[in-house]
Amino acid sequence: MSTLENHYSADDIESRILAGIRASGLDPEQRLTPEDLSSLDHFHTGGLGASSALMELAEIGSDDSVLDVGAGLAGCARFLAAETGCTVDCIEMSDDYCVGARLLNQLTGLEDKVFIKQGSALALDYPDASFDVVWMQNVGMNIEDKVRLYQEIARVLKPGARFAFQEVVAGQTVTTYYPLPWASDASQNFLVSTEHLFAILNDCGLAEEKFVDISDAQPTQNSASSTPAAAGQLGLGVFVENLGQKAGNARRSLDEGQIRYIRAVFRNG
Ligand SMILES: C[S@@+](CC[C@H](N)C(=O)[O-])C[C@H]1O[C@@H](n2cnc3c(N)ncnc32)[C@H](O)[C@@H]1O
Repeated sequence: MSTLENHYSADDIESRILAGIRASGLDPEQRLTPEDLSSLDHFHTGGLGASSALMELAEIGSDDSVLDVGAGLAGCARFLAAETGCTVDCIEMSDDYCVGARLLNQLTGLEDKVFIKQGSALALDYPDASFDVVWMQNVGMNIEDKVRLYQEIARVLKPGARFAFQEVVAGQTVTTYYPLPWASDASQNFLVSTEHLFAILNDCGLAEEKFVDISDAQPTQNSASSTPAAAGQLGLGVFVENLGQKAGNARRSLDEGQIRYIRAVFRNG
């Protein structure tokens, strides 16, 4: 199953990724680092910098077993594994992203640290109390059944383990500008307010430990880091259609109070 607007075959996603890497001046025949690929495979607000900040907030260490829910191309997972030495299991619904993630694992030599599984966040294919950390960045806004999502996350966390996440949440007013990076139209947009989200997390047995509203730290509309990569630069445009329009709509939604961005760590039990 694919969550992408355009479903790519395994060969197509691989050749798109390899072509993007070559066009950026990198050589896929040489060992690449997670940083080399970060403009391609950190598919969330703030990119690599946001992943680094969440890693610090969650205090992830080498002994931690981590589950990345909705891992996309698993850029965050490779970054965590390379930075800390931890192992990361990835669950991702889109089979084409899974193909791309396995390719990038090979190119970075991290196949023995980062494991890719196709599946749903709503039915995590792992035993109870499996992980020290569940990590999730920019995924919940795609998922309507939030109670089930966070029940599943709590279930696979060990007692006292932590849930580290970055999320888009609803602002003061209704979201009106489409397409957004996570939703072509309102039928795909499942934002709830911070207060509502935290109430669901509490009901699932997860307690707030750290919380940062990062909305005001986002780059402005005209800054270089808010715009899609130009031709020849590695970027999300390798597999996302209309990236400029979507990024512009997200910025406008933020500026007009329709959305907020948050980062948090909650503890299980
Ligand atoms: C915006 S991307 C973020 C990817 C990755 N977390 C990152 O930050 O680079 C959202 C990801 O969530 C995945 N996703 C959405 N709903 C899902 C579900 N129910 N189960 C598993 N993955 C899901 C999508 O396929 C997509 O890869």
